[in-house]
Amino acid sequence: MIQTDALHLLPRSVRDSQSEMAEIVLPNDTNPLGALLGGRLMHWIDLAGAMAAHRHSRNYALTASIDHLDFLVPVHVGDLVILRSSVNRVFNTSMEIGVKVWVENFLQDQCEHVSSAYLTFVAVDAGGRHVSVPAIIPETDEQRRRYDEAGKRREIRREHLERRRRASR
Ligand SMILES: CC(C)(COP(=O)(O)OP(=O)(O)OC[C@H]1O[C@@H](n2cnc3c(N)ncnc32)[C@H](O)[C@@H]1OP(=O)(O)O)[C@@H](O)C(=O)NCCC(=O)NCCS
Repeated sequence: MIQTDALHLLPRSVRDSQSEMAEIVLPNDTNPLGALLGGRLMHWIDLAGAMAAHRHSRNYALTASIDHLDFLVPVHVGDLVILRSSVNRVFNTSMEIGVKVWVENFLQDQCEHVSSAYLTFVAVDAGGRHVSVPAIIPETDEQRRRYDEAGKRREIRREHLERRRRASR
């Protein structure tokens, strides 16, 4: 018989935890000019990333880092913001999640790319202890490309972290 832990750690495909979130931009989400606040979008990106991280790991997950973010086009009050997230790669207790953000203007029938973000989540149990994350199975060419690139980004993050740690000693 397979033990529960072993079952929990069975590899899962990317599509099993792919997530989508949608928000209508309301006045409270915007600056006085009616443009979406960057901080609000960052909050939604974090939530969309957490959805994929929780679904994949079947555990609690903490945001360890968010890579560089660009906001490519402005988003206005009344627009529909779509956030799609998926697991790019799993390491040991951490995983990289990609979140891609789109803005849909339903009056003009337009959809534009707003931002792409890479987040690292660390899986923890109810006591806050780090736990292993099941391996991810990339199935499409795009998923395999994201998997390969996530490995390179991890190396860059580790170098930055190591440099910061050395500088603060
Ligand atoms: C993120 C956190 C759990 C890392 O804990 P830690 O004990 O310093 O981490 P460790 O060195 O043991 O590494 C654990 C894993 O996290 C990864 N990691 C740690 N810091 C990271 C960072 N800044 N960016 C990306 N990955 C990171 C490590 O690479 C490692 O991954 P692996 O197990 O897959 O190899 C810890 O710093 C923390 O709890 N931070 C606060 C998180 C939080 O509250 N987030 C909400 C926003 S405030």
